[in-house]
Amino acid sequence: MGTEIEPHGPPTSLKILLIEDNPGDARLIMEYLAPIDDEKFDLVVAERLDSGIELLREESFDVVLLDLNLPDSDGLATFENLHDQAPMAPVIVLTGLNDNVTGLAAVKAGAQDYLQKGGVDRSVLVRTIRYSIERSFLEWQILQSNQTLEDRVELRTQELEAARELASRSEKLAMIGQLSGGVAHDLRNPLGAIKNAAYLLKRRSQNNSSDQSIDEISKWIDVIEREVTNANDVITNLLAFGASKDLVLSELQIHDVVQDSLDSLSLKPGISLSLNIDAGLPPVLGEASQLTRVFQNLFANAQDSMHSDGRLSIDAQRQEPCVKIVISDTGCGIGPDYLEKIFEPLFTAKSHGTGLGLAICQEIIDKHNGSITVESQIGAGSSFTVLIPIAP
Ligand SMILES: Nc1ncnc2c1ncn2[C@@H]1O[C@H](COP(=O)(O)OP(=O)(O)OP(=O)(O)O)[C@@H](O)[C@H]1O
Ligand SMILES: [Mg+2]
Repeated sequence: MGTEIEPHGPPTSLKILLIEDNPGDARLIMEYLAPIDDEKFDLVVAERLDSGIELLREESFDVVLLDLNLPDSDGLATFENLHDQAPMAPVIVLTGLNDNVTGLAAVKAGAQDYLQKGGVDRSVLVRTIRYSIERSFLEWQILQSNQTLEDRVELRTQELEAARELASRSEKLAMIGQLSGGVAHDLRNPLGAIKNAAYLLKRRSQNNSSDQSIDEISKWIDVIEREVTNANDVITNLLAFGASKDLVLSELQIHDVVQDSLDSLSLKPGISLSLNIDAGLPPVLGEASQLTRVFQNLFANAQDSMHSDGRLSIDAQRQEPCVKIVISDTGCGIGPDYLEKIFEPLFTAKSHGTGLGLAICQEIIDKHNGSITVESQIGAGSSFTVLIPIAP
């Protein structure tokens, strides 16, 4: 239903709805509100609550004077009923003499004020009416400002949301552009090498010359094998990078994950391994295949950085609330200018790297609510520290 009482500043002539079934009480109020000088009151009387509510629906009033005991409603429920139907209407409740309790309860429930029948005169009645209208007008203004503020906040939130979506969309597009450029480059190199090797093989087999060297043929086949492996690595890494599936978490012993990762690593000759995992480490919460991928990448990088007589060290210990795993090598180290780029997708300093290894590690560790950091010194080696939260 609409607003039955139009809020505005103090009017000169007030329109009042009196809901009162007792003719004597109604007459008294009419007498109090008889016009004096230019102070006029337009009084409409309803004898029942339902007819009062009906009038509020049809006309607008400045204030309602409400007797609580009516033929169709009794006590505080009378006010509550009216307030439900016309929440914006300023209501002054009329209670019996000395009935402060009901009056206060009505004010608590949203009435502007209460008056005890028989305890008022014209000046008290008029003042109460004027104050009630004024208060109700101020309340209405506050409500309006609140609504305006809420609307503004809502609008700004929507604008921000739209901007964020746009940003992440253009970020994704930029990422796809960057990735496709890198992939084209990374796949063309091995494909070019394979094509060359195949061409040379074909020529050798066509010539079928007697001095055809078995060695040479097997050399080209090696090239094909190696480059197919490289191309395959690019695709595997790309798929791992693009896959943003949810983790399937379970309790894992870091020792097992490290051991599984080491199993797939063939250590270059001359490189020694130092494994130092604290006994009794608590399990971490993670997905084994994903964490294995992280360690495989880190071990492979460490190995790539070293010539013979290097050392790969793996240390793990408790560091509340995580397990800390440090993977160190005695390799070439990483310069400060490279150090800030190595976790970026597609950054590589290797002729056959995809530059996705560390980006994948970072993504996986982030999903585990852990962290991965690096310290390195050119010529001395690098040390990657991985923190993974202990299972609760
Ligand atoms: N332990 C390390 N020692 C020295 N340099 C490293 C080490 N780990 C990473 N880097 C540097 O960081 C770069 C990025 O590493 P990342 O693992 O992301 O890619 P990549 O090893 O080049 O290729 P791939 O995608 O095949 O792993 C490497 O090219 C290398 O220059
Ligand atoms: Mg790598």
